[in-house]
Amino acid sequence: MAPTAAEATPARPIRIFDTTLRDGEQSPGCSMTASQKLRLAHSLADLGVDIIEAGFPASSTADVQATAAIARDVRGATIATLARCHAGDIEACARALEHAHSPRIHVFISTSPLHREHKLGLSRDEVIERAVMGVALARQHADDVEFSAEDALRTEPDFLAQVCGAALAAGARTLNIPDTVGYTTPAEIRALFEYLRAQVPGAEGAVFSAHCHDDLGLAVANSLAAIEGGAGQVECTINGIGERAGNCALEELVMALNVRRGWFGARTRIDTRRLVPTSRLLSRITGMQVQRNKAVVGLNAFAHESGIHQHGMLRHRGTYEIMRPQDVGWQQSQMVLGRHSGRAALADRLQSLGFTLDEAQLNGVFAGFKALAEKKREIFDADLEALVLGADAAATRGYRLARWHVSTGVGAESLPTASVRLIDTSGVSIDEAAVGDGPVHALFAALARATALEMEIESYQVSSVTTGDDAQGQASLTARVDGVEFTGSGTSTDILEASAHAWLDVANRAVRARRPRAVAALA
Ligand code: KIV
Ligand code: ZN
Repeated sequence: MAPTAAEATPARPIRIFDTTLRDGEQSPGCSMTASQKLRLAHSLADLGVDIIEAGFPASSTADVQATAAIARDVRGATIATLARCHAGDIEACARALEHAHSPRIHVFISTSPLHREHKLGLSRDEVIERAVMGVALARQHADDVEFSAEDALRTEPDFLAQVCGAALAAGARTLNIPDTVGYTTPAEIRALFEYLRAQVPGAEGAVFSAHCHDDLGLAVANSLAAIEGGAGQVECTINGIGERAGNCALEELVMALNVRRGWFGARTRIDTRRLVPTSRLLSRITGMQVQRNKAVVGLNAFAHESGIHQHGMLRHRGTYEIMRPQDVGWQQSQMVLGRHSGRAALADRLQSLGFTLDEAQLNGVFAGFKALAEKKREIFDADLEALVLGADAAATRGYRLARWHVSTGVGAESLPTASVRLIDTSGVSIDEAAVGDGPVHALFAALARATALEMEIESYQVSSVTTGDDAQGQASLTARVDGVEFTGSGTSTDILEASAHAWLDVANRAVRARRPRAVAALA
């Protein structure tokens, strides 16, 4: 395939330093076990990151184990570990990295006046002395040493240049300039990188790195500006997780460089098709979902609901999309059918479901669709089938939940247990029961037994669709069956029942997908 204009533009390589397992993992709600960290590290290597910061071995024995396992098992990326400029920390890094093919020790010390005075109680000269000691000791254990000047963006620029020069002279190869508290702005950080590249003695042989936090929501913009100022490495995390408001989001930075290659003249080694799977893996591991409207990896990133946008998209994708969903790992754009949708999108979806309607039939279904959309936030394929075929026909197209019971509790003695009765399409009832780690888990396990379906759940969310204490809950489920992804939903005033309906909605779609679908003819 011929390269696109952007791909053909000559571009400077930018190293992607992923710190999901260190800066990301140390944030609330994101801690991971050693085996989870190892799993994610393999996925980061597959994604194509250049450097994986595996952890901070001096911080805990769990981090010692995790970093050593990653260094031993993961290939294809440099493995870095973090240390303060203390002999003990640096030696812990060296031990953890013993089996790494390409090890990097990353040492840091605070340089800003605020941190010098209140955190370290050190003078400028003492900070330089410690930085030099740290880098020199790290060099005794690894050729590849990175130095970070913590809180660099609130450090006097002339002093920062002096510390960076001393770290380079002591053997550092990469100079990281962290905006530790997410304080800077794009114009300021760009100017700082230009200044440092001009002022630091030996700068021409060093890689300058940006490490931006998101306290003002500027981490990605600031990292891009640092690249414009000459940064050759960017430190970021999957889904932007990290201390407080997080770090620069890897997927956003990479796609900005990719989509706007003509502007930035920079490229990365990232296999962008792995961005969504890696983001989802992290969400599954930590239980921290990304918000729906998150750029690139959020559920709404390629979803269109308004009639005008859907009409434009059906004519030419470029009207409302600047990147292809497939290029970042989604299967396709999504036309969400809701009360803002128009006839064109409805007709398109019905056609993809196998229904070809004439003008009058479409008018009838569209009227029913609009009435339903006033009551329901999102209209799913099953709702459309019910509209076209009639509720009775749709209801007999799969398993129905006739009865369910869940018992649960807290404490060592409690064993969440669920029993279900389903009616299959021939009217036969199936009773099953199962235990689980919690009530939802037990309920899903009982449903899996009753249907003999293995479902790999990718995301599960419950939200209220009405207000008040008798609010209707809507459960949404995305799961893989036979390697194919299905989405389903269920609504009830009881969230367990809504969850069971969502599970069955997915199950019925999967069962239907196994059968060759006869194109429906309307009566
Ligand atoms: O934000 C920061 O300053 C850091 C350094 C330790 C690199 O994470
Ligand atoms: Zn940080």
